[in-house]
Amino acid sequence: MDKDLERIVLSEEQIARKVKDAAAWLDGRFKGATAPPLAISVLKGSVFFFCDVVRAMRTNVQIDFMTVSSYGNASETSGVPKIVMDLAASVYDRDVILIEDIVDSGHTLARMRDLILGRGAKSFTVVTLFDKPARRKVDICADYSCFEIGDEFIVGYGLDYAQQYRTLPYVGILKREIYEK
Ligand code: IMP
Ligand code: MG
Repeated sequence: MDKDLERIVLSEEQIARKVKDAAAWLDGRFKGATAPPLAISVLKGSVFFFCDVVRAMRTNVQIDFMTVSSYGNASETSGVPKIVMDLAASVYDRDVILIEDIVDSGHTLARMRDLILGRGAKSFTVVTLFDKPARRKVDICADYSCFEIGDEFIVGYGLDYAQQYRTLPYVGILKREIYEK
């Protein structure tokens, strides 16, 4: 385990199981879809989860990426998610699958939903690896959430603190002294 972590919340093996279950759920949801859904990764946090889920799916999907930034360098959300890099594809009349790393205040997800539905998507389905329901500021939730956590700051498997720890293959709780110093 990384020395800056308090404890591990999801091991590589546990993540693999969550990925399989999320992919199976999405396959069930899009069974018989006439056109391939567009799966969108909200960068950078969801990148590894996204790649694992779309590759575990049997459904033929197309992929696209969007970079949204809600934080500066710290662990507090500004409440105004910024689109740093937009999608390449049009979502008009498409089934859209949004893959998120974590839903915290809900600001990012609400922004994405309004944007994608505003551009005329046929449907909008959200899968998130983590959910922090106790921290919600906007009344919104994912259609499928893999793991619920309390008010703790986690890193790894895409999740960062000040752009660090993203490449850890597991997810753990960051020691408080790291972000309170
Ligand atoms: P929201 O807009 O407040 O829901 O925040 C969503 C974004 O905040 C996520 O995509 C993450 O980038 C970030 N975030 C929220 N909680 C955590 C955490 O515990 N660790 C790392 N990033 C987090
Ligand atoms: Mg993020």
